[in-house]
Amino acid sequence: MSSYHIKNLEEYFQVYRKSIREPENFWQEIAEEHFVWRKKWDNVLSWDFSKPEVKWFENAKLNITENCIDRHLLTKGDKTAIIWEPNDTEEKAVKISYRELHEKVNQFANVLKANGIEKGDRVCIYLPMIPELTYAVLACARIGAIHSVVFAGFSSSALATRTNDADCKLLITSDGSFRGDKTIDLKKIVDKALEECPGVQTVLVAKRTGGEVNMKEGRDKWLQPLMEESSTKCDPEIMDAEDPLFILYTSGSTGTPKGMLHTTAGYMVYSAYTFKNIFNYQNDDVYWCTADIGWITGHSYIVYGPLLNGATTVMFEGVPSYPDFGRFWEIVEKHKINQFYTAPTAIRALAKRNLEFVEKYDLSSLKVLGTVGEPINEEAWHWYNDNIGKNKSPIVDTWWQTETGGIMISPIPFATPTKPTFATLPFPGIQPALMDENGQELEGHQVDGRLCIKFPWPSMARTIWGNHDRYRDTYFSAFKDKYFTGDGALRDEVGYYRITGRVDDVIIVSGHNLGTAPIEDAINEHPAVAESAIVGFPHDVKGNALYGFVILKEVGETRKKENLIKEINQQIADKIGPIAKPDKIQFVDGLPKTRSGKIMRRILRKIASKDTSNLGDTSTLLNPEVVQDIIHGAL
Ligand code: PRX
Repeated sequence: MSSYHIKNLEEYFQVYRKSIREPENFWQEIAEEHFVWRKKWDNVLSWDFSKPEVKWFENAKLNITENCIDRHLLTKGDKTAIIWEPNDTEEKAVKISYRELHEKVNQFANVLKANGIEKGDRVCIYLPMIPELTYAVLACARIGAIHSVVFAGFSSSALATRTNDADCKLLITSDGSFRGDKTIDLKKIVDKALEECPGVQTVLVAKRTGGEVNMKEGRDKWLQPLMEESSTKCDPEIMDAEDPLFILYTSGSTGTPKGMLHTTAGYMVYSAYTFKNIFNYQNDDVYWCTADIGWITGHSYIVYGPLLNGATTVMFEGVPSYPDFGRFWEIVEKHKINQFYTAPTAIRALAKRNLEFVEKYDLSSLKVLGTVGEPINEEAWHWYNDNIGKNKSPIVDTWWQTETGGIMISPIPFATPTKPTFATLPFPGIQPALMDENGQELEGHQVDGRLCIKFPWPSMARTIWGNHDRYRDTYFSAFKDKYFTGDGALRDEVGYYRITGRVDDVIIVSGHNLGTAPIEDAINEHPAVAESAIVGFPHDVKGNALYGFVILKEVGETRKKENLIKEINQQIADKIGPIAKPDKIQFVDGLPKTRSGKIMRRILRKIASKDTSNLGDTSTLLNPEVVQDIIHGAL
């Protein structure tokens, strides 16, 4: 018997040791005991990181939605699967039982089928946080279509790139979305995107805001009436363990976004098992993750992980500041939330406000608190621990990535003693390694290096959609036979890990991954711009903010600088989305470059951080004279 629920530190070490010594037995026992299979696997694991190729539960047959929904119907049909909390406090929350979820997902699946979607087809989902988003994800999985959810804050251009990259046949959206006091016309963004996406034959439009929309004849259809007239029965498509489940895009340091491909069985087993343990989920608990389903956190820990455990999961449409900064805590009291999972950025933003916003509410239901997406600083950790957890709810600082599919390093509540700013210990099955710059593994304690994983885990992404070479080059070429995360980390005297941040050109702003290259490309497309460089600098709420150094084409560009900054920002919002707008833009005459023409970002980062006392060796620069000018003009 495997231990599906780790209760104390001793048990964690026992389970961890077993997961390393006998990984196949370990995962096989969990898979056998806690899921329904149409056929069991022939082989638990085969792998070769040099290709790279990884297969878990080979030749097993299953459907993940049978595990998320059908198997709970007998015992938990009336249990609430989803609590949907709308943006506006005046609108009533909606509770969706497992039985209703089953019906809706089947109806939606039948709509997809009626519109020509078959196993293996790609479906793009561009929706706000409304129940239809969860139905859409599960409806795809029900019929074996591959979902590609695009966060509904992305621009039309970003949506078009992703839709075309995955070659989606059908797109699901809504008329609009509510976010705080704003109403966003999503359908207009979609219409613009689809001008560039000839492959999309059908658009299903959910009604949310009631705003006016243009429905293109033969292409656009209202979703809800089609669902209502569809059967509530839809037999699940029987999938192979390694059949694709979804694509989710993440920024790379260079080039186009990477469509990370996740497959069925391994992802299912890992997201379910991590959810149970890392949030210590108990039968009648109400669990809330504040992320958007447009990110991996929402995929694994709003939809799949909780539903696989028959949990009650909350979906929140709005933002933490609307109608005021007490909204999160109002929801915690209202739904008696037991587990609360959010991003350090949100904590920092709320910690700046008056404590009255917290103290007004009864938070005594909380048992476990979580953070994700970026390092949490000590001050924010203590604020969270003291004021929200009242020093009684352990904080799980969970480190993981879109690529890893599930949480990799995290405390297990009530087992692992927490330590502020440390993600602590690897989850069972995860074998981290810290590497030095020469490719040697750093053994022992009190070392820091580049964080790699040296053994496969069930939910790892199997490839980048349409570009396996890029997958190998990005993740498996820096260190032989190891998955390289792109993060730096240190291991302390007891073996706890602390993530120190990205070591590549990805910058994490408010918990969102942003690659510098796509932002620079967007800036460079402005007709007045010759060249640009984006770097990150520390920001007390966002973690990092962006600083853009821009060279204009014409010496003495006559237009007002403020206007240019506005235009450049608009260009970035159009190409990527508002989250990628820099906080500061400085116009410069030159950028520090090496003799081979590479921008020395190290120097720009120091200038942006106002840390210019020691710029290091600048003698190898092609143009050292620009450095002083940039420092003088720094914002
Ligand atoms: O740098 C790490 C940071 O977020 C990156 C992954 O981003 P993304 O794929 O968008 O997934 C975010 C949600 C899982 C990582 O490479 N990161 C994530 N969690 C933490 C973190 N940095 C520090 N501490 C964390 N707990």
